[in-house]
Amino acid sequence: MTRTRITIVGAGNVGATAAHIAAAANLADIVLLDIVPGLAEGKALDIAQAAPLQSFNCRITGTTDWEMTAESTVVVITSGLPRKPGMSRDDLLAKNVQIVKSVSEKIVQYSPQSIIIVVCNPLDAMTYTAAKVTGFAKSKVVGMAGALDTARFSHFLATEIGVSPCDVNCVLMGGHGDDMVPLPRFTSVSGTPLTELLGSDRIAQIVERTRKGGIEIVNLLGFSAYYAPAAGVAKMAEAILKDSKITLPCCAYCKDQYNAGGYFIGVPVVLGKNGVEKIIELDLNESEKALFEKSLSHVKELAAKVDKLL
Ligand code: LAC
Repeated sequence: MTRTRITIVGAGNVGATAAHIAAAANLADIVLLDIVPGLAEGKALDIAQAAPLQSFNCRITGTTDWEMTAESTVVVITSGLPRKPGMSRDDLLAKNVQIVKSVSEKIVQYSPQSIIIVVCNPLDAMTYTAAKVTGFAKSKVVGMAGALDTARFSHFLATEIGVSPCDVNCVLMGGHGDDMVPLPRFTSVSGTPLTELLGSDRIAQIVERTRKGGIEIVNLLGFSAYYAPAAGVAKMAEAILKDSKITLPCCAYCKDQYNAGGYFIGVPVVLGKNGVEKIIELDLNESEKALFEKSLSHVKELAAKVDKLL
């Protein structure tokens, strides 16, 4: 029997933490791959040695060799430069396009049936890059940003209201940048609309903190967040592997939906064994539409830069 395999490309903070979370959840066998000799091997060995303590039994392999990744069901691309203080996600574009391009070519060669989860920044542009280079069905290339951004929004709201973050149901759209579009009108706490629980000024402050959630951590640590991003990856991989069909905002290909015109951008989707199985179309009001369109125009600009570099 062939065992289900996830490959995580990049054994840095996000990749290794995602490997640990996925292993602890016994999601599948995990191959952690990095170009730096010893890095993925060492992290995989360390994670594997946690197995008896955490009661998991999937196999974890660290490698520099793409052969080991063959026939993965899910491939996660975390490799790429992360942000440092003073950098925007867009500053990473030129370098990371080349990294995502070469990783995508390897994925075509070794796991042509896989579903790809893209994590590196600028997220929407890198998801576009992976889709363009692989030529995979657009539903099989998906970016992880909404899971993280809604988790941040939920955390801030739960802390403010004094409830469990698990009871906060958030929706957020747009690109993974400062112009992302948290949607308070579609957000609720155990069924009660958020707009009945907090005043509009306080909601606006929390929306702003969510938009800047990534840089808040970069400024504290000197490098980017990884626990919550890795948890977002594991959540998406689980939905795909278990065909659970959860609804989650993800960076997905939208053509007619939201009049996006054929771009990868954050929207609520249903995730299952086929990747993005459906895009949920919310009935946005005029101001929400305007915010989404502003974010979309930024995503389009970055996609045009990618086209010039590929
Ligand atoms: C963040 C980075 C990972 O939002 O984009 O923390």
